[in-house]
Amino acid sequence: MNVENLIIEAEKLLEENLQDSVLRVLKKLPEDKKEKLAQEILDLDFEQLKRLYKETQETPEILEKKLDHMNYVDKYKLSPEKTNQYTQLGEDIIKNGNYAVVTMAGGQGTRLGHKGPKGTFKIDVEPEPKYLFQILAENLEEANKKYGIVIPWYIMTSTENDKETEEFFKKHNYFGYPQNSVKFFTQGNLPLLFTNGSLVLDKDYNIKIAADGNGCIYKSMKKAGILDEMKKNNIKWVFIGAVDNALLNMVDPILIGLAIDEKHEIASKSIPKNSPKERVGVFCKANGVPSVIEYSELPEEMAEMRDEDGELLYGEAHIMCNLYTLEALEKIAEIDLPYHVANKKTDYMNEDGEYIEVTEPNAYKFEAFIFDAFNYFDDMSILRGRREEDFAPVKNKEGNDSPETARKLYNDYHSKK
Ligand code: UTP
Repeated sequence: MNVENLIIEAEKLLEENLQDSVLRVLKKLPEDKKEKLAQEILDLDFEQLKRLYKETQETPEILEKKLDHMNYVDKYKLSPEKTNQYTQLGEDIIKNGNYAVVTMAGGQGTRLGHKGPKGTFKIDVEPEPKYLFQILAENLEEANKKYGIVIPWYIMTSTENDKETEEFFKKHNYFGYPQNSVKFFTQGNLPLLFTNGSLVLDKDYNIKIAADGNGCIYKSMKKAGILDEMKKNNIKWVFIGAVDNALLNMVDPILIGLAIDEKHEIASKSIPKNSPKERVGVFCKANGVPSVIEYSELPEEMAEMRDEDGELLYGEAHIMCNLYTLEALEKIAEIDLPYHVANKKTDYMNEDGEYIEVTEPNAYKFEAFIFDAFNYFDDMSILRGRREEDFAPVKNKEGNDSPETARKLYNDYHSKK
């Protein structure tokens, strides 16, 4: 398409989709900028945007969800026989080269406020400060040494942080990880929408986009050819974890063994909530299928319910420590997971070419969640671990789940090892 037609087509699309503000900007832009913006507009999926916006304007349908407790297995209450059996099953998978690890590192880390990819954040642990990516690399290297193999490591980035992430790894010589076994792939994006439904323009008159949530990892892996590559390389089990947990155990043979023994295609490590009020998502059965329910969605009286042993009935926290068969990932990659909407503060370029910095939420951001995929399976295995061994999240600048709390958990764990 020549430039003239490209611009005509873009204007037509904007008109049809009631994007008057961006249309006015496009009309008055200088020629070179016009072409770039027009191309971005043609690349948008307006039907999808219309659907997403419509959903923000409707009162959410209160779906009657029948919630039930979900069974779990406590790793530390397994009999020695079961522990051995699961360890054996899991170790066979790992040693045979049937195991791969994926790190989700495409998030924006807004709460932490670190400039740059979250994995490049340094925590002041002992004996010397370490980057989050370095902590993960060391965790995998330890497993490689133990099992005499090299586990393929895939890292999901976003268009925003992809270049910086790869450069960071190069600069640090992959923290000693065999370079051929580290592969990056980029997740998708969705445009932000002002609360009136208008597209948002960024500095330099780009359509403002944002990563489309960690639930898009499944489609992103397929799109990037990772699932095919894994199949070719005889990978059978895939671990997917977050970048921001300084105690993430990415290679736990017991988790694999449990899933195999229970004949489930998905398994997840949980930790018990530290109180009914802890703001974490918990596992449950919703309308009979495995789910994670956000703390805000769980009725207070249910959050407080306990079993005869005094354990919370809805107390197993999802810590983004998930394991799948390759077939399960292939199945999920074909499913359109729902998008959740968040109200975000979004700086923008106005029609007069002024860049406006805002202090209040003014736009919608759409994200898919990794755990929404669990609903598409009849059941899954849950292995309860321990906070002090499995979970040191780095979410906030200060207070709970901050570098300071993660530093302490990391130091305590490693000093006892
Ligand atoms: P969070 O939901 O905690 O988001 O991500 P975040 O980006 O780290 O932090 P905030 O909410 O902006 O403060 C949990 C995990 O999912 C990844 C993150 O990198 C982290 O490992 N993630 C999140 C993605 O890979 N892509 C996304 O689009 C969102």
